[in-house]
Amino acid sequence: MPMETANMFNPASKVSKISHCSSMEQYKQMHAKSLKDPEAFWGEISKEFHFEEKVKGKFLDYNFDTTKGKIFVRWLEGAKTNICYNCLDRHVLAGKGDQVAFYWEGNDPADAEVVTYGELLKDVCRVANVLKAKGVAKGDRVAIYMPMVKQLVVAMLAVARIGAVHSIVFGGYSADSLADRMMDAQASVLITADAVWRGPKLIALKEIADDALKLCSAKDLKVKMNLVVQHMNKVTAPQPASNGTAANGNVAKKTHFDDKGNFKVNWDPLVDVWWHEAVSAASSECDPVWMDTEDPLFMLYTSGSTGKPKGVQHTIGGYMLYTATTFKYSFDYHQGDVYFCTADIGWITGHSYVTYGPLLNGATSVLFEGVPTYPHTGRFWEIIEKYKVSKFYTAPTAIRALMKFGDEPVKKYDLSSLAVLGSVGEPINPEAWLWYYRVVGDSNVSIVDTFWQTETGGHVITPLPGATPCKPGSACFPFFGVDVALLDEEGREIKGEGEGYLVFRRPWPGIMRTVYGNHERFETTYFKKFSGFYCTGDGARRDSDGYIWVTGRIDDMLNVSGHLLSTAQVESSLVEHPSVAEAAAVARPHSIKGECLYCFVTLTEGNTFEDKLVAELKNKVRSKIGAFASPDFIQLAPGLPKTRSGKIMRRVLRKIAVGDKDFGDISTLADPSIVEKLFELRPKES
Ligand code: WT7
Repeated sequence: MPMETANMFNPASKVSKISHCSSMEQYKQMHAKSLKDPEAFWGEISKEFHFEEKVKGKFLDYNFDTTKGKIFVRWLEGAKTNICYNCLDRHVLAGKGDQVAFYWEGNDPADAEVVTYGELLKDVCRVANVLKAKGVAKGDRVAIYMPMVKQLVVAMLAVARIGAVHSIVFGGYSADSLADRMMDAQASVLITADAVWRGPKLIALKEIADDALKLCSAKDLKVKMNLVVQHMNKVTAPQPASNGTAANGNVAKKTHFDDKGNFKVNWDPLVDVWWHEAVSAASSECDPVWMDTEDPLFMLYTSGSTGKPKGVQHTIGGYMLYTATTFKYSFDYHQGDVYFCTADIGWITGHSYVTYGPLLNGATSVLFEGVPTYPHTGRFWEIIEKYKVSKFYTAPTAIRALMKFGDEPVKKYDLSSLAVLGSVGEPINPEAWLWYYRVVGDSNVSIVDTFWQTETGGHVITPLPGATPCKPGSACFPFFGVDVALLDEEGREIKGEGEGYLVFRRPWPGIMRTVYGNHERFETTYFKKFSGFYCTGDGARRDSDGYIWVTGRIDDMLNVSGHLLSTAQVESSLVEHPSVAEAAAVARPHSIKGECLYCFVTLTEGNTFEDKLVAELKNKVRSKIGAFASPDFIQLAPGLPKTRSGKIMRRVLRKIAVGDKDFGDISTLADPSIVEKLFELRPKES
């Protein structure tokens, strides 16, 4: 271990004197109180929020033990609130209507906009009224498929204001994925935009949404309205490249734009409604619907190891307290900060730490539409300088990608406003951690490596700036209310130093409540393996100082650029191709993405393995799941290494993927000779 790592990083930096939690003693005391008396701890925090009616039942009631009956979690039973009211009205009523909620920064640096809390509230009310007029009511599901524009925040809060449930689908997903999610949720309304530029690429969202709607109607899902934001006429298109063609979008240009350069969309007057037309006719006042704290707020689909995505469902009250509190403490948020989270709202990080956490704290944030490398590799740093960002939150994959360009693009900008730098999505390697700390943070910031999941709603293991001395690569200690345990395969607890399954012994307010429409799946996925514990699916190690080091997934999931994918999901896309008889996908380490996909395919009779097929198969996965899921490697497999009972020995495939001949014991395979054959068939470029 390098000296520095052993010494740990002092959290002092710029926050220590004012931080909400300023020492390990204070952290330990607060953490102990949060476990000993959750009602006193969270009850005190809940006083900052507006509840229309107080708790009538138990403050916390739950069962985490499948042998004792149904799994359930209930916080603040009987209380009534509205999260949109707490995000907006509460601040406006307190005289903060003119404060900036978001600095919107477009894909092109020339495009920027400022939105205050007061304006946001009016826009939200207008959209809420549009939804109400279409008959959207409490409990109805509204699907949202949008770029990173302020209307996305408006849409989700409008849905929450009237007690409906949002189901946001990341704008990088394919029509098939969008349709699957809309059908599972039985969404009655879709909100989208015409298109968006992401770097030099055009993403024609409306066109993809149209395809998804066709798939939905073929399966009898009646969608009442597709509310479409007109975005393309407001933004700057990428500059043509020197050869006179558009930077990438030359193909897109021809097919998507008319002679005058206007973006074209197909229009179905029976369902399509322009956002700007509907909204301008709507009233800017709309009473919030007072909801039960345990009513659903949203669902967000995450990969499941069986292949079918799970609609992770969060409820209003607990999620509100938890995202607000984690935002306040993990980033040590103070009035006056400018906060910038680079995650897309289509993922949980965006839900909790672009929209809800910051707005619940009345914070000012940057909402960024683009990508880190467009129009140049210093774009993040340029934005930090421009808005004097003090708290910044991004993913290890972005840090590693930007590290490759060296220090110079960072050093060009004045980043002295930065005080806290966050990381999320996958384990951060110490090299990237140190670069983030030294080069971006000028060795004068607190780094927070936040471990959590779609299911946990908010940070569950994280350092606190000003309190926690950090070790690069460790997410450090549990957040308030989180009771960590490590278990061995037999479910015995590992106390002190050691490695095992990372589990939690009791619920914190932000934990998911169910899998939408399939409570049994919720119980089997998270609670069946170890009675009495929520099982994360990750492994972790506790060192001699008690620090937690998350080691990664221990199920058939892989993490590509911070996005979880299941190998089953990829395999089922591959076998849809008529030439593929069988497929096996494994994770292979990747220097920027963290992990990438390496796939083995067995072909049906009479087919040959050629470049054209490889391209088709990559496309198949892109169109079934989304571009981010595209495999990096596909190799031919005359057979797969299976045990006599037919189970694929994935550890052997992982070895082949990295070119390691140390296969371990393969004697239980039905045909051990297949391993050598597969090794020889590895693609040259791997
Ligand atoms: C999985 C959850 C939470 C928002 C983004 C991903 C991995 C996440 C860390 C971290 C080590 C991490 C885990 C986890 N993960 N953050 N700081 N250190 N691993 O949400 O798609 O639900 O993925 O991401 O494997 O289980 P998600």
